Amino acid sequence: MNRAALYKISYGLYIVTSGQDGKFNGQIANSMFQVTSNPGSVAISINKENFTHELIKLSRKFVVSILVQSAPMNFIGLFGFKSGRDVNKMQNIKTKTGTTKVPIVLENTVAYIEVELEKELDCGTHTIFVGNIVDGDVIGNEEPMTYAYYQHVKGGKSPKTAPTYVKDEPTAASVQTAPGPRYVCSVCGYVYDPVKGDPDSGIVPGTRFEDIPDSWTCPVCGADKSKFELA
Ligand SMILES: Cc1cc2nc3c(=O)[nH]c(=O)nc-3n(C[C@H](O)[C@H](O)[C@H](O)COP(=O)(O)O)c2cc1C
Repeated sequence: MNRAALYKISYGLYIVTSGQDGKFNGQIANSMFQVTSNPGSVAISINKENFTHELIKLSRKFVVSILVQSAPMNFIGLFGFKSGRDVNKMQNIKTKTGTTKVPIVLENTVAYIEVELEKELDCGTHTIFVGNIVDGDVIGNEEPMTYAYYQHVKGGKSPKTAPTYVKDEPTAASVQTAPGPRYVCSVCGYVYDPVKGDPDSGIVPGTRFEDIPDSWTCPVCGADKSKFELA
């Protein structure tokens, strides 16, 4: 099997929120697709270890918020590399509630879909949740983020819990020629490329890793500068 064939699959990038009774959480997911049109339904593949998995099972509802292309890496890092069991991800995030009463993320999103859980499929490490669309709206006009854009333009990676996880996943950053050495985050695998810098965090393109202030943290997972190693 040539696993490179799997890298050719296209996805979007979403925040899936769920919960009830004041206990809410969200996570990044790329594995979301529309299943039927009439009545409308969608499916998501969620790792059984995730707090969001627990909340979907409990509340039997979830919201899919569609990320915009300009969503900063630290925002994706909060929802995609940290667990709601350890941090309250929702506390400083702008949300509203609709039909399902599950928080709809209003920051860095272009549209949302509210879903009531209908079916579950046990897939070993993951559960596929299929649900009926009960509401939804478009809340912006920015370009939605694709998984390819996240990987190849933003240099983003996926954690072990993502269905598409690949050990030593190749990124555009890892194959590009840089004027200075690249450094890799030993926690999440993000590669700092001096050609690109980290404009979301105020590090302009062309900044050598050595010249980044010590207060800088990994834009994906929040690890501090000392956790970086020569790539
Ligand atoms: C780009 C990206 C894509 C991801 N896709 C999925 C996915 O489709 N399904 C999944 O279960 N986890 C996925 N993850 C991992 C979860 O977002 C991550 O495990 C998160 O920390 C779970 O949070 P929770 O424990 O608060 O629910 C993805 C992460 C990233 C960064």
